Amino acid sequence: MTQHIALYGKGGVGKTTLAANISAALVEAGFRVMLVGCDPDGDTTSLLHDGLPIPALQDRVRNQETITVETAVYAGYKGITCVELGLRSPGNLQRGLQELKRLQLFEQHKPDYILYDIPGDSSCTALHAVLAEVDIVRLFVVTTADFKALQSANEAFTLLELHNGDRTQPVLMGGLIPNGITSSFEESFVSDFAYHANARTIGKVPRSLVVRQCELSGKTVIESRPLSNQSYYYRRLANQIVDASGAIYSGNLPQPMSAERLRNWSREWADRIHALENGLVTDGAAI
Ligand SMILES: Nc1ncnc2c1ncn2[C@@H]1O[C@H](COP(=O)(O)OP(=O)(O)O)[C@@H](O)[C@H]1O
Ligand SMILES: [Mg+2]
Repeated sequence: MTQHIALYGKGGVGKTTLAANISAALVEAGFRVMLVGCDPDGDTTSLLHDGLPIPALQDRVRNQETITVETAVYAGYKGITCVELGLRSPGNLQRGLQELKRLQLFEQHKPDYILYDIPGDSSCTALHAVLAEVDIVRLFVVTTADFKALQSANEAFTLLELHNGDRTQPVLMGGLIPNGITSSFEESFVSDFAYHANARTIGKVPRSLVVRQCELSGKTVIESRPLSNQSYYYRRLANQIVDASGAIYSGNLPQPMSAERLRNWSREWADRIHALENGLVTDGAAI
């Protein structure tokens, strides 16, 4: 059965790079994969398409093109089904997803995994639209080790809690994916946030020049540098997504922090950094 997987996070944290690389890793592992870009940037699928954007569904509808189940999608790396909604408002995003359903795109292409690349904003409007329209089984939140990205993750947890309400089949939390990590300090920072929000981190993707190099050549790391360490991290994440697919609801849903609790938590980290800078603590790895 098709698994609908959502990737969410603040702008610039690395969602699109992750979505493309995880898709490439999944297709190489033998799965049928569809990647749906929900970002107005319309760049979700470019790395799977030789670095070139595919036309957004919205623009094609506006140009009065006839869209069919075959023409709505583009074939990307190793046959990944690529769709770029390219919609600028949440209402439009919802209509774009309805259009995919009307075309019976999911039933016709029968992917094992559909990944949605969903941009973050303070009201989680795009995430809200996707949750309302498709049966997402698992939500992954991508974050870098900075306060604003974690704040955005916390907002997603709040929306998830509201959305799940007393649903018998809640949208599960796949995990928080730390991306662009440069030190054990950053790793601890994200893990500690996850701990306080009753979430868990999965994987850890280091900051790497290889990602930049592959982005410049218009390809995923999986395609361009298959034997690099960075490829290993993306494949590991793809495996974790597959492994989690069979898991049943464990009751472990995140508990978002209140604004006050989140601020108190961040102040404790400010104190730790201060102590480290002033030599009161000398081993950064300890925090
Ligand atoms: N692990 C990483 N190491 C180095 N650069 C990264 C990494 N992940 C993403 N990037 C770079 O960061 C920038 C933003 O990434 P992108 O995937 O477009 O973010 P988002 O989709 O969340 O806005 C891109 O230039 C991308 O190449
Ligand atoms: Mg993006």
